[in-house]
Amino acid sequence: MHLPDFKVARTNTKIAYETKQFHLDERYRNQYKGKTCYLRTYGCQMNEHDSENIKGILEEMGFSMIDDYEQADLIILNTCSIRENAHNKAFGFLGRVKHLKEIKPEIMVGLCGCMAQEEVVAKKILEDYPWLNFVIGTHNFYELPYVLDQSLQEHKLQIEVYSREKDLVEGMPIERDNPYKAYINIIYGCDKFCTYCIVPYTRGRQRSRAKEDIIAEVKSLVEAGYQEVTLLGQNVNAYGKDLYTDYSLAELLADVAKTNIPRIRFMTSHPWDFTDEMIEVIASYPNIMPSIHLPVQSGSSRVLKRMGRRYSREEYLTLFHKMKEKIARCTISTDIIVGFPGESEEDFQETLSLVKTCKFDNAFTFIYSPRVGTPAAKLTDNLTKEEKEKRLHILNQLVNQYFLENNQKLVNTVLPVLIEGKFPKKEDSYFGYTDTNKLVNVSGNVKEGSIVPVLITDAKTWSLDGKVYNG
Ligand code: SAH
Ligand code: SF4
Ligand code: F3S
Repeated sequence: MHLPDFKVARTNTKIAYETKQFHLDERYRNQYKGKTCYLRTYGCQMNEHDSENIKGILEEMGFSMIDDYEQADLIILNTCSIRENAHNKAFGFLGRVKHLKEIKPEIMVGLCGCMAQEEVVAKKILEDYPWLNFVIGTHNFYELPYVLDQSLQEHKLQIEVYSREKDLVEGMPIERDNPYKAYINIIYGCDKFCTYCIVPYTRGRQRSRAKEDIIAEVKSLVEAGYQEVTLLGQNVNAYGKDLYTDYSLAELLADVAKTNIPRIRFMTSHPWDFTDEMIEVIASYPNIMPSIHLPVQSGSSRVLKRMGRRYSREEYLTLFHKMKEKIARCTISTDIIVGFPGESEEDFQETLSLVKTCKFDNAFTFIYSPRVGTPAAKLTDNLTKEEKEKRLHILNQLVNQYFLENNQKLVNTVLPVLIEGKFPKKEDSYFGYTDTNKLVNVSGNVKEGSIVPVLITDAKTWSLDGKVYNG
């Protein structure tokens, strides 16, 4: 039993780690042949990508994946801690699983992901959900075969969570969700410690993957026919800082571009680490997509300071304008939090005025959610729930207006679209994304997985309509 400890998770000392190869002990291979597993994933792309590895491991253990949890022999929740509602969703689902376990006591149930790293969650599980088989952390989810086996042998709950990062594991089996687009981890963890955010506690300190491993993975995806890779990290712009003195995201992007994979994306970018060299590389390679997710969080320098974001409103705007100027047709999306403790009406108005300046192409907007153990959770929260909801509503109306206006400007232009799928029951009707990351409903006869020119015929807030353009 290893329980999470936030005091340890918070420490900033570097831990020596090794890069190891994944190894499945032969006794676990096909151990569960004929059994089924239902895996439910919450949270960000990082978690979705971890789930692709978890599925890969489960398949080597003999499980086949199914979509109906009521029929599954094993149920796993890969959880997220970022806001209170992510917690509530996972515990809500565990409540339903509890009923099922009462009827079918032989089913196995496990929880992994960011919630597993939280002290409060471990305590709650020990008290209220002792019937779970296992809880396994983000740093060691590849130990799943061993931990599940232990729980079955000992007939009791195993909690195996490490508060700080462990070794970097290469060569994990993977079952990718999408046959055309792939996620690739380039950096794990986060060292930024924004005062509201739980991620540094749940994902450990920054660790970059070796450039050779990343390039080799991209090359194998090119060979397998993939059209797009997204380089993943909580802060991809810090790539390499912990590993190299002369190799950063700029060099990595250039090297990935040289593999000739048709489309490269990356996320998430912290404005603080975004250098001019990175902007130049993005601008100069046609296969690096002109679309950047650049979370601002607030338009008020006073709030940004209290959030620990390490840039001011002015610095963000300078970077934003530089990107727009240097990278042709570049779209920029963002994340914004309203109702951070102490956010005054004036601060909120500054966020609105920043949105009016930037006219974002997409924005994910949130009400601040206090996370136990983070510094902001100790700040006095002076706003009522109604006031926060009102601010979110006003902000959403404004951002939506710009989504639509930006989309309307694209009508009658021809854009390249990666066709990702077909609408069921509709003849010649597909969907895909432009290079600038806009969702398009495409009519015409096309091949899934191809990149085709599309004439945009109509614009909506969240998507475009278009037809295949034949010149
Ligand atoms: N690493 C990324 C963000 C990852 S979390 C970055 O720094 O940009 C995704 C988004 O969730 C954040 O950008 C932030 O807007 C939001 N978020 C994080 N913690 C939150 C909290 N406690 N309450 C509300 N929103 C939060
Ligand atoms: Fe959280 Fe900030 Fe790290 Fe992003 S950069 S994951 S918001 S601490
Ligand atoms: Fe959630 Fe963890 Fe991602 S907290 S947003 S799943 S890094």
